[in-house]
Amino acid sequence: MDGALRAVDIKVKDGVILSIRPTAAVTPAKLWLLPGVIDDHVHFREPGLTDKADIESESRAAAAGGVTTVMDMPNVVPATTTPNALAEKRALYDKHCHVRYGLFYGITDDNIEEALRIPEEEICGYKVFLGSSTGGMLMNDMEKLKYLLSHTRKVVAIHSEDEDIIRRNREHFLRIHPGDDLGIMFHPMIRSTQACQKATMRALQAFEMVGGNLHICHVTTATELDMIRRVKQGKLPNNAHLTAEACVGHLWFSADDYKILGSLIKVNPAIKSLADRTALRHGLIDGTIDIVATDHAPHLLNEKKGGALKAASGMPSVQYSLLVMLEMMNHGILTLPDIIRLMCENPARRYKLWDRGAIREGMSADFVLVDPHAKTDVERSSILSKCGWSPWEDEMFHHKILTTWVQGVPVWQNS
Ligand code: DOR
Ligand code: ZN
Ligand code: ZN
Repeated sequence: MDGALRAVDIKVKDGVILSIRPTAAVTPAKLWLLPGVIDDHVHFREPGLTDKADIESESRAAAAGGVTTVMDMPNVVPATTTPNALAEKRALYDKHCHVRYGLFYGITDDNIEEALRIPEEEICGYKVFLGSSTGGMLMNDMEKLKYLLSHTRKVVAIHSEDEDIIRRNREHFLRIHPGDDLGIMFHPMIRSTQACQKATMRALQAFEMVGGNLHICHVTTATELDMIRRVKQGKLPNNAHLTAEACVGHLWFSADDYKILGSLIKVNPAIKSLADRTALRHGLIDGTIDIVATDHAPHLLNEKKGGALKAASGMPSVQYSLLVMLEMMNHGILTLPDIIRLMCENPARRYKLWDRGAIREGMSADFVLVDPHAKTDVERSSILSKCGWSPWEDEMFHHKILTTWVQGVPVWQNS
């Protein structure tokens, strides 16, 4: 598709687009029907962490945000690192999820052989935490990463931060400022640019040797973008495919916002400098970033108290990701076709969801209807995530999501 807006009549049958016919145009276009958003990075917290969130609540928030497919991460309790845990999670998703879903399988130091035996169609990919975050899952052995990359055709998604650098930084700042916590401003200095850079460099070196399908989650720094760009332009083994993801929080906020929002925007990897954010935004346009996702990671407000050491890392975002990107479009940062490429087409292609990501005859009727002339006030009362707060509270977005359909069935209708 060319991403252009057209006046059309769409017929849907059995959840599939049967025909698309031109109709008399209304200018300016009254409402926009866009492909449903595919968010390849969410933490819906089930099983085991349902005080924070659950599949029902978060998938409703996703539907309200125009998201029709989500891919869930394995750092739950029990962690999705065994066939049994995967089966348990799938049963919960089948029962409670309002949108379409895929599940990531978590890699640990000793489950790779078993992980490789999981039938391809049961998972959307493997998740490797090269640096530990919420849940403490960790696997930073590059030989094992190479083994995994060279033995699967599935996406291998990495959380890329270097554990040793983070630990050393933490110890360093605690020596200077002894105590049991550090101010939030220390967060991007502990979870530093160097920590991201080193882990991403090692992963890229592994990838350049063996190929495979490497996906770098939530890129946050200009230096990582430079490395990714270079690798993409270089000579790679056959069947090597590298993609990079940026998350809406890192695209919208910068370190300047810690002053106002404090630990609410504490996430791993940390939100970095304004210069990094500018580089990320350029990366959306020049093709270095392939996918925009959320890393929707709800925590309760009382867990977000404290500073760089004590506050939980992560924030909810799945209900507002499309609105945030449309707002960035209004600011002239990217275009509507860019948004559709980054949030629909590219994730569909990356995860081989051939029925999704565009509005075309024969494809699934996964749509979101947007009113470009109405506004959305982010008020606490309209937040659907179970944690009940948003870093965008009191923001006013200049679009409104009216209806979301999954395979022709409305899963969200704005009143
Ligand atoms: O900030 C984060 N929160 N980063 C992660 O890697 C995990 C996530 C969570 O699950 O809370
Ligand atoms: Zn992560
Ligand atoms: Zn995550």
